[in-house]
Amino acid sequence: MMTHYHRPTFGSRLGAILAAVGSAVGLGNVWRFPYEAGQNGGAVFLIVYLGCVLLLGVPVMLAEFFLGRHTRRNGVGAFAQLEPGTPWAGAGYVGIFCAFFILGFYFVVAGWTLEYLFQSLGGSLAGKSPEQYTADFVTFIRSPLRPIFWAVVFILLTQGVISFGVKHGIERAAKLMMPLLFLLMIVLCVRSITLPGAWAGVEFLFRPDVSKLRDPGMFLSAMGQAFFSLSLGMGCMITYASYFGKNTHMQGTALSVAALDTAVAVLAGIMIFPAVFSFGLDPTQGPILVFATLPNVFSQMPLGTLWAFAFFLLLVIAALTSTISLHEVVTAYLHDEFDIRRSTAAGIVSGTVVIFVVLSSLSVNPDNSIAIFGVSFFDILDNLTTCVLMPLGGMLICLFVGWRIDTRILKAELTNKGSAAFYFFHVYVFFLRFVAPIAIGLILVYEIAGRFSPPPPPETTETVVSTIVLPGVLFPA
Ligand code: TRP
Repeated sequence: MMTHYHRPTFGSRLGAILAAVGSAVGLGNVWRFPYEAGQNGGAVFLIVYLGCVLLLGVPVMLAEFFLGRHTRRNGVGAFAQLEPGTPWAGAGYVGIFCAFFILGFYFVVAGWTLEYLFQSLGGSLAGKSPEQYTADFVTFIRSPLRPIFWAVVFILLTQGVISFGVKHGIERAAKLMMPLLFLLMIVLCVRSITLPGAWAGVEFLFRPDVSKLRDPGMFLSAMGQAFFSLSLGMGCMITYASYFGKNTHMQGTALSVAALDTAVAVLAGIMIFPAVFSFGLDPTQGPILVFATLPNVFSQMPLGTLWAFAFFLLLVIAALTSTISLHEVVTAYLHDEFDIRRSTAAGIVSGTVVIFVVLSSLSVNPDNSIAIFGVSFFDILDNLTTCVLMPLGGMLICLFVGWRIDTRILKAELTNKGSAAFYFFHVYVFFLRFVAPIAIGLILVYEIAGRFSPPPPPETTETVVSTIVLPGVLFPA
């Protein structure tokens, strides 16, 4: 309870931005965004997505930044400090549980990226038939021990970084890894678009299909993607903003994070689709694209092992800076509110999360039947967080900051006591009070209605993989 008085801060403005970008850029960007964009009309989806990022994502992120830096507390503490003794702290607890549940399946997928990095190092990823890549991937994720082993390694890596603290752990990791991620991304993009026949992939991603504009589901999936990709709605950005310095430019940081996150998503598309098209492979393979289709692409290129290694290293980095931020949400809560040492708090989180990870990894194999009402544990964690907890948390954050906070206090915090300008501040408040909560409410209803309607029966191995085995949010069928 006392520790927030000696709250650590990020060492520099750039460090703060990179840490937040590290959280935002994750498996969601490198895999999900290009696929969603490709499926939903390319350029049209891109425009709607950009609109969602600007009109919903940035306002909610600013609200989280306000809560974090104003109170200098974790996701629960922020609400508890502003409205002590009211049920609003519940909004913070939603976030804590949400972080736990996301970690439960995110670590599993993160572990898969380590396995593939390892395989690319050993050269065993090269020279298989396309079917073999898919079959080997399914065999791997369904095996009992290996995926769990890699997930545990990933947890230990995350825990290691977190234990070093905010400045020497989280910030340093982001400062080292994010530039490397950008570098790898640029190199892989250049490699991809200079392949023969690559232009078809660029067209696939950017060719506008105006007919998609009539599909309401597209607007909603763009909004959902924006929330997930920007790490919003569960206290992650509250926690990180609690480490911002007094002079951190709030609006500038929110815009930079949103812009960089979006840039990485678009670059991921440019990195993946031209290469896939160049080798005449199917870009709509969905969930297995990254783990089965891409290794096939790499194995057909000169220096394929090198490209595969670079790509999976990029995925590991993207996932790691995101798991750090998710882990930190719970670690910071325990550390602040119960005055537990940071490394001990991190250990408690890792120890608990292992249980979720083991169950969700085992549940990927239908034979293990770790399921409730026929839905695997993995999918339950995924659905519960993305369909219910995250939108709910985001809506509560908007309502809280919009209605419960004195607008003068809000404006003072977001302008560093008037030293930065905030044009259209009243429009912003209107967004927080009405536009964002209503829009988020729509996502919530749409997602819940969609998820609980019965799925079509699986037909092929690929359908099984995309509808049952993989997380719906990262890898929608
Ligand atoms: N944004 C990350 C991604 O795109 C995942 C993530 C990290 C996240 N922290 C979060 C999602 C907090 C929701 C909430 O992969």
